[in-house]
Amino acid sequence: MDTKIINDFTTDNIQWLGALLKQGDLVALPTETVYGLGANALDVEAIKKIYLAKGRPSDNPLILHIADKEDIYSLVETVPQIANQLMDKFWPGPLTIILPKKEIVPNEVTGGLPGVALRCPDNEFCRAIIRAAGVPVAAPSANISGRPSPTTAEGVYNDMQGKIAAIADDGSCKVGIESTVVEINDDTITILRPGAITLEMLKEVTSKVYLDKFLIEDNTTPKAPGMKYKHYAPDAKMITYVGSSADIAKQIRDNIQNLDIDSKIGLLISLKTKKILEKNLGNIHKNIYIITFDDYDSPKSLAKILYESLLKFNSLQVDYIWAEGLSSEGLGQAVMNRMDKASSHQIIKL
Ligand code: TXA
Ligand code: MG
Repeated sequence: MDTKIINDFTTDNIQWLGALLKQGDLVALPTETVYGLGANALDVEAIKKIYLAKGRPSDNPLILHIADKEDIYSLVETVPQIANQLMDKFWPGPLTIILPKKEIVPNEVTGGLPGVALRCPDNEFCRAIIRAAGVPVAAPSANISGRPSPTTAEGVYNDMQGKIAAIADDGSCKVGIESTVVEINDDTITILRPGAITLEMLKEVTSKVYLDKFLIEDNTTPKAPGMKYKHYAPDAKMITYVGSSADIAKQIRDNIQNLDIDSKIGLLISLKTKKILEKNLGNIHKNIYIITFDDYDSPKSLAKILYESLLKFNSLQVDYIWAEGLSSEGLGQAVMNRMDKASSHQIIKL
């Protein structure tokens, strides 16, 4: 299959991409979080194509993307008041809400679960394509299962070329990590996957906001099946360090001194840490690739480049990745959740 890349969102192109989805083809869509691998959510054969293209376990359910808030009523049994408040406040945006599904939503989409996950993405082209399709669009992140989620069309192409009909290319995703997934029970909100709509932001709607036990304790089963799988893994062994820039720079310098001179290293660090490191490092190692994030609003800056950096390090075939982590507050919670997985829980506090 020839995978077409469309970056000119004329009315004709939007209609064409919508028609592909409607007829059961796979189309990668830009969203504000990461690129999604879209399929007609009401078409079981189209859904099966998603699982096949990603190599995804079939018990891991998909998020349904809708163009307009009102579209939710044909897909779920009830919309509690809290859900309405969340939709009004955060949609379109990076918040996924799980509600009891109507019969029309195939079991293949929800992995047999009674709840369906819904989200209205904050990307106007994405919503226009979904509207043109005239159906809800199931879309997991557009990566092969287990790999970092793509935040550019090029990243999608590398994993999906030849497997899908088209990629709608709207440049890089502005958030960079996947949506917050929440479940609603009576008057409480439970966060199953942290994202850019933070715990603090959700608390503006109700004080009863909790984290799924799985996010706090080891050895519990997550309510979002996808959270149990290996995720976001770069090819190289990755370690994340948390501490002051001075301590992180010192640790990296020590690590380098103990390495074989031919090994390749990828560093994902703040600008401040880079400055200190460069002062101390001199010319002791030749194969170092450094990607930096801003110190100002660092969680946002790191979220935006995290997956792209891991994919870059894959293409450079580095042997080690040493990354700088952040405190787990606000958006930092979602960023550290992804870094914890990317580094196979190798987070070291200095
Ligand atoms: O930002 C995002 O959410 C992106 C973009 C493309 O919208 N999508 C995304 O989809 O990250 P995916 O499939 O990679 O992750 C969906 C997560 C998984 O952890 C899955 O287990 C959970 O949401 N999930 C989906 N439906 C669920 C349900 N009915 N009950 C519990 N968890 C659910
Ligand atoms: Mg994913």
